[in-house]
Amino acid sequence: MFKYLSLALAALLLTVSPSMATAEDAGPIVIKFSHVSAESTPKGQGALLFKKLVEERLAGKVKVEVYANSALFGDGEELAALADGRVQMLAPSLSKFDQYTKRLQVFDLPFLFSDQAAVDRFLKREKSRELLRSMNSSNIYGLGFWTNGMKQLSANKPLRTPADAKGLAFRIQASSVLDAQFAALGATAVKMPFAETYKALESGTVQGTENPWSNFVSQKFEKVQPYVTITNHGVLSYMVVTNSKFWTSIPFQIRTELESILDEVTLSVNQTAEANNQRDYDLLVAGGKAKIITLTPAEQAAWRDAMLPVWKQFEGEIGADVLHAARAVNRK
Ligand code: LMR
Repeated sequence: MFKYLSLALAALLLTVSPSMATAEDAGPIVIKFSHVSAESTPKGQGALLFKKLVEERLAGKVKVEVYANSALFGDGEELAALADGRVQMLAPSLSKFDQYTKRLQVFDLPFLFSDQAAVDRFLKREKSRELLRSMNSSNIYGLGFWTNGMKQLSANKPLRTPADAKGLAFRIQASSVLDAQFAALGATAVKMPFAETYKALESGTVQGTENPWSNFVSQKFEKVQPYVTITNHGVLSYMVVTNSKFWTSIPFQIRTELESILDEVTLSVNQTAEANNQRDYDLLVAGGKAKIITLTPAEQAAWRDAMLPVWKQFEGEIGADVLHAARAVNRK
């Protein structure tokens, strides 16, 4: 009798949540980690390091499958896939959560952060920790922030003054703030999945875009973007997210170890992101394919002045508390 009862209980556990069953019954918990960047980028390296450490320290209990370069899901489909369990971890750009929270828009405000170090300081503040929880009601659980680098502007013509951007179409991430940023220049912003950007630049559907050096080089944009202007006008950072129900169904011991591994990987990604971008900048210069335009302080200030009105436009949605906390991290 007892044997039948324990079999029924095991069967019940398996139906409730595969991850609740013990490893020997149901095999390892599988975490599909999908993202849209190349493996050589800070995020790409972070996902691979997470896989390595998890499969070393939780061998047989957890298996991580990494899908880079939109191989499994691209922009516009990955968050839906997370919601219905077709993928278990993502690390989308903070620009891509508009439909779930408006507070992360603070990261898209042009010229808000003075440099990557300021971004890093902000990501460690309590206000940023709060932002990790800003999508809990949508079953999206923020596990941590990964950084990439400061964004630069590229185009098929030299951009030295804001007027040079007037009338051009720029590919952007799905972000209302970035849309307004290019509108402030008299340009058109085209929201488009990252995976479609190269082809759109090659065909001339769009004439310019913005991204850190690591993405610019890993996507070989220099072949279709002959001019890059060092503006450092924005930041590209990510939130590593999982499905809340999935994550809390993982047995406590295993979940605690996964979160400690993720903290270790976050540290590694954020400590190496700047060097990763510097390496790719040096590769771009050595390659000689793209002309790199350096601005004078006055020219840089002109871009900042042109884009600054965007802050006021979004302060209400973002929240004065978040905006204040972000501005406070800049060195005077
Ligand atoms: C983009 O879409 O430009 C970036 O978010 C790509 C990335 O690094 O995730």
